[in-house]
Amino acid sequence: MGANRGEFQSRLGFVLAAAGSAVGLGNIWRFPFEVGNGGGAAFVVLYLFFCFLLCFPVMVTEIAIGRKTSKNPVGAFIGLGFKNWSIVGKMGLFCGVLILSYYNVVAGWAFGYFLEMVTGNFDIGKNFGAFVSDWQRVALYGVCFMAATAVIVSGGIKGGIERAARILMPTLITIIAFLVIYAMTLPNAMAGVEFYLVPDFSEITGSVIYAALGQAFFSLSLGMGALITYGSYVSKKENIISSAALITLTDVGIAFFAGLMMFPFVFSLGLEPSGGPGLIFVTLPQAFQTLGPTLGIIIGSLFFMLLSFAALTSTVSLLEVPVSYMVDEHNWPRRKAVWAIAGFIFVIGIPSLLANGASTFFSTFAGSDFMTFIGYIANDTLLPLGGCLITFFAAYVWKKHNLSEEIAEGNPNYKGSAVETFINIAISYICPALLAIITFFTILSRFFGINVL
Ligand code: TRP
Repeated sequence: MGANRGEFQSRLGFVLAAAGSAVGLGNIWRFPFEVGNGGGAAFVVLYLFFCFLLCFPVMVTEIAIGRKTSKNPVGAFIGLGFKNWSIVGKMGLFCGVLILSYYNVVAGWAFGYFLEMVTGNFDIGKNFGAFVSDWQRVALYGVCFMAATAVIVSGGIKGGIERAARILMPTLITIIAFLVIYAMTLPNAMAGVEFYLVPDFSEITGSVIYAALGQAFFSLSLGMGALITYGSYVSKKENIISSAALITLTDVGIAFFAGLMMFPFVFSLGLEPSGGPGLIFVTLPQAFQTLGPTLGIIIGSLFFMLLSFAALTSTVSLLEVPVSYMVDEHNWPRRKAVWAIAGFIFVIGIPSLLANGASTFFSTFAGSDFMTFIGYIANDTLLPLGGCLITFFAAYVWKKHNLSEEIAEGNPNYKGSAVETFINIAISYICPALLAIITFFTILSRFFGINVL
């Protein structure tokens, strides 16, 4: 059984695939506008702090659970002998399906923008509202994106996911490096860098802390078993701690560079850094236009290609979770599982597709719009709840010494090290407590309108 599930061929392949899952719209689309709203560098400092203090231990735990059992998130809890806890895996599955359903819509926008940039249509920025409400066109882009995701996932671990990551991730890193260097040469670039990098700690409020925590968690793909699933394809020879450290550093690094590219553009054009979600789709095309037709097309196309590639390695990881579940637990052939689930999730995503102007009902759903509403449930509530339960489970149900045992495979110096002490303290106290508090505040604010922070 273990052999024909597939396995990452090398440590680099695993790290690239998992970093590919982590690096996505969250880093390049969401991170810069969260920084803009959260007052700049103070948000960045908080974000880094949470990535290492809170998220890193959760990541290590997820990978270890996956590798120990060689199973999808539902099968993993059963494999460890705790059938009742497989509800946490099921919740993760549900959450991943919800995330992918709307994430694919935004990924489709990115892909559509790439095509517009190639043809030099910079006005698309001013026409963002019309673009996203043109549901037939956006549906077509969404179908293309989901199909590309499905093609990669149906290739399996080594021949599909790992191979795609080996091509897409280095390309992505090259593009972003080029764009950062280019952005630095823009007039007034340093004002942007300063906003981004010089912290003003008076900007830190309860809601900024909350946003930084949520962003760190989402960005590292934690809380719904994506890394349990990827961990299940990792060989016993690999060192989980150093792999998780590399994945975290790559994710944080790419988010950091995305901001370093964005704010010089924003400031050199005198635009508003707190532009919100429109920052990329509205503001940037206008910035690219000022570069003149040829350079504008090159830079603009590269940027939206970067965004599409980043999104693609993330949609791949989101689709792999339910696919591995159907393959492991229901013996479906991979290909059948991939296309059936991809089709199903696309259909679930139709309300999100219509939630940006095409349908008044979905665009005004539950006081915001349907896409935002799904984000409240999946990103803001189920992910921290999942992370809370996974770490609680590892510390008190499966037990810390069993977790240590698994981490020590491929890492003989782990036992008795300071890292072990840190992980144990984090998963026993810090992670479950902090994540429970976050879940609680989210439910109060998002569903009952009580804003404590
Ligand atoms: N981390 C990705 C991003 O930053 C999104 C993502 C992919 C994700 N897989 C996930 C988020 C699993 C949460 C859980 O865009």
